[in-house]
Amino acid sequence: MTTSAPSFRALKDEALQALHSANDDAAIEAWRIEWLGRQDGRITAILRSVREQPQEVRATFGAGANELKAALETALEGKREALRRAALQSLATAEALDVTLPGRKRPLGRLHPVTQTMRDCLAAFAEMGFRTVEGPEVEWAYYNFDAARIPEDHPARDMWDTIWVDTFIDGQRKMLLRTHTTPNQVRVMERSEPPIRVVVPGKCYRQEATDATHEWMLTQIEGLAVDEGVRMSDLKGTLYGFARRLFGNDRRIIFHHSYFPFVEPGVEMAIDCFICRGAGAECRTCHGTGWIEILGAGMVHPEIIENAGYDSSRYTGFAFGMGVERVALLRWGIEDIRHFYQNDLRFLSQF
Ligand code: PHE
Repeated sequence: MTTSAPSFRALKDEALQALHSANDDAAIEAWRIEWLGRQDGRITAILRSVREQPQEVRATFGAGANELKAALETALEGKREALRRAALQSLATAEALDVTLPGRKRPLGRLHPVTQTMRDCLAAFAEMGFRTVEGPEVEWAYYNFDAARIPEDHPARDMWDTIWVDTFIDGQRKMLLRTHTTPNQVRVMERSEPPIRVVVPGKCYRQEATDATHEWMLTQIEGLAVDEGVRMSDLKGTLYGFARRLFGNDRRIIFHHSYFPFVEPGVEMAIDCFICRGAGAECRTCHGTGWIEILGAGMVHPEIIENAGYDSSRYTGFAFGMGVERVALLRWGIEDIRHFYQNDLRFLSQF
């Protein structure tokens, strides 16, 4: 075979064009065998024919053929590399993480609305100098009743429908689930000296029919202040201060006279009904009165001061017991206290 120098260019064009349209490994391998194959490759055949060329063109022919071979080998390597890169690129696209996709949300827990409210109440009292302490939920009847001037067979025991612990001591039930946080008045006085200013939060239990404002389990905060010269006006001032901090200045509060064996005089404090604003005779929340009671309070009975070992002619005190669920109802305008403990996330996640 004799091929002149210019036709090397035509061969090269043909080879490169064929390589250009070879787009997978198999096609490239076929191309390699066709052009550079050791046995029958077209370039190989040309190189073999160098010896047969006439003496005068042999050197030029050989150089041209070698150049062509080198050019095709370079082109082959380039093509293989391009193909590898393209394959990697399409893999990267196919398997890519789309970082712009919105993440999967992890549900975040939060404090129960009653816990939130309790903490806000305690913080309001802390600002006024009240320290927080705690007492037992399973309580002696002595602290829950007797020490609070409610002896056995006293009709006032009926004010609290007690859940008793079924353990008999000397033939009698003496333990109960505390019906209020009031036993802590005596517990605190027993172990400290005036001046006393404490708040005692905690769960209380009553065996009673539930309705929109009553639950058989409730959270109370007991308050107690004992010092020289503590007066009813201090009690009112403290509770006004509390109400303003929690509800703002536009909410109205009212004190009514009331009876609790452990205070004298005794009062109840109510806040204006947020549901009907006093206008609804059929309001389930305030029962048409326009007011919702949130706490009982009064001046600590002198007998209790004396029993604690203090001189009641020198020391006086005030106490209050607040229903935290009632406060939570009021601040958020919730119409039924029973929502709090039904564990329905549609309700709980609103707070
Ligand atoms: N312990 C009373 C109750 O549960 C509330 C109260 C506490 C009243 C302190 C007066 C003083 O109803």
